[in-house]
Amino acid sequence: MAHTGALILAAGKGTRMRSERPKVLHTLLGEPMLWHVYRALEGLVPDSAVWTVVGHGAQQMRAAFPGRTPGFVVQERQLGTGHALQTAWPALDSAGVGTLLVVNGDTPLVPRAALAALLDEFQARRPALAFLTVDLPDPSAFGRVVRDAHGAVAAIVEAKDYDPAVHGPLGGEINSGIYALDMAAVGPLLPRLGNANASGEFYITDLVALAVQAGLPVLGARGGADPQLLGVNSPAELARAEELLRASIVDGLLDAGVMVHQPGTAVVGPRAVLEPGCEISGPCEIHGATRIAAGASVGSHCWIRDAEIGPGALVRPFCHIEGASVGPDCQIGPFARLRPQAVTEQGARVGNFVEMKKARLGPGAKASHLTYLGDAQVGAGANIGAGTITCNYDGRSKHETVIGEGAFIGSNTALVAPVRIGDRALVGAGSVITRDVGDDMLALERSRQRELPRRK
Ligand code: UD1
Ligand code: CA
Repeated sequence: MAHTGALILAAGKGTRMRSERPKVLHTLLGEPMLWHVYRALEGLVPDSAVWTVVGHGAQQMRAAFPGRTPGFVVQERQLGTGHALQTAWPALDSAGVGTLLVVNGDTPLVPRAALAALLDEFQARRPALAFLTVDLPDPSAFGRVVRDAHGAVAAIVEAKDYDPAVHGPLGGEINSGIYALDMAAVGPLLPRLGNANASGEFYITDLVALAVQAGLPVLGARGGADPQLLGVNSPAELARAEELLRASIVDGLLDAGVMVHQPGTAVVGPRAVLEPGCEISGPCEIHGATRIAAGASVGSHCWIRDAEIGPGALVRPFCHIEGASVGPDCQIGPFARLRPQAVTEQGARVGNFVEMKKARLGPGAKASHLTYLGDAQVGAGANIGAGTITCNYDGRSKHETVIGEGAFIGSNTALVAPVRIGDRALVGAGSVITRDVGDDMLALERSRQRELPRRK
């Protein structure tokens, strides 16, 4: 049975980005442009009915979206958007796609609602082809929509090919690069696309004039002046789109009951989950699959990615947290660095200039100043003195340090792993500990202080 499919055009190099990276892999708030387009399609078209035309940097594209490769169609030479459609056509056809939604891969902010509205209008009016337009006073490099005296669409003319003498005075309506089409009606037009134009490319946009000339109904659906429908072609346009997205995410958080101080400087990625009742302060960056629980508070100048911040936790300013889990009611920072697999359990405290990696601080344990905890397990209530270093790396491999519950590690201690400090043990300041210390023991490892008369 004929069903709805989607095709994303993403094979181009993106020359105006002046970068070797395929354009659609450039990121907005940490996620590639193409990721945002896939996300807009979620719930509209099943993943199995989404195809992507790739070409330039196809290998990088596969690496960036391994789960999507079954839907990749390779356009070896990028001869234009019309050629991209021609290249994908056999795959779409044999999959039984009846209605096809086509989206330029460089339109990362396209709202799901705009795609849904276009599809609804398409289903209601059944034209051969429909496309979304944007009102733009300065149409710059975008394709221009040409309408006849009755307001019906006549053609889309690309900027380079636009001649006011032929096409009439420049209007302010442009093509967004988002189309819905009836495969059966458009199929016969496809081979008729030519490349006799200023770019020497096969344009998908020429389908409009071809359909009109064939007497087929074409619909130019006006999307208003929504800047989210604009394609991104240069670093400056990418930066503008990213700022739009940033502001809309922050507005959404404020509406949902997240307290955002200095909202103009808070950056929150699209996958981050901030529960209502948490509090953050800009400037800050919160990326990836970070989760901040209700009642947690994150101070300014923090950079956080893929981390979990528990209820009631307080992250003071200037912390760098990645792949870590901060438990309920913990206090972190200022100036703390939590690296992947750092875990702080209920009420633990990490102070300034403390770095943790693959290390766990048990409930109520503290490392308040100038410490490195790597490959370490610290028991509940233990106290790690200033300047304590777990020497986890011997030049070849990493080894673990285990510190028991209620242990007290004196300042400036080096714990040479693998080593275990017992429960409630005490290590004197300045020690270099190379052997295990038993429960309830006092370990001292330093030379006795001498006092001699000073030489005159
Ligand atoms: C295109 C439209 C233009 C519209 C604009 C909206 C055409 C001819 N023009 O122009 O009317 O206003 O989008 O943003 O379509 N691509 C391929 N294979 C190719 C060429 C391009 O897959 O051979 C992909 C690109 O990766 C890109 C998309 O198609 O994601 C659009 O191509 P691009 O070159 O950016 O077209 P525009 O000049 O922006
Ligand atoms: Ca473009």
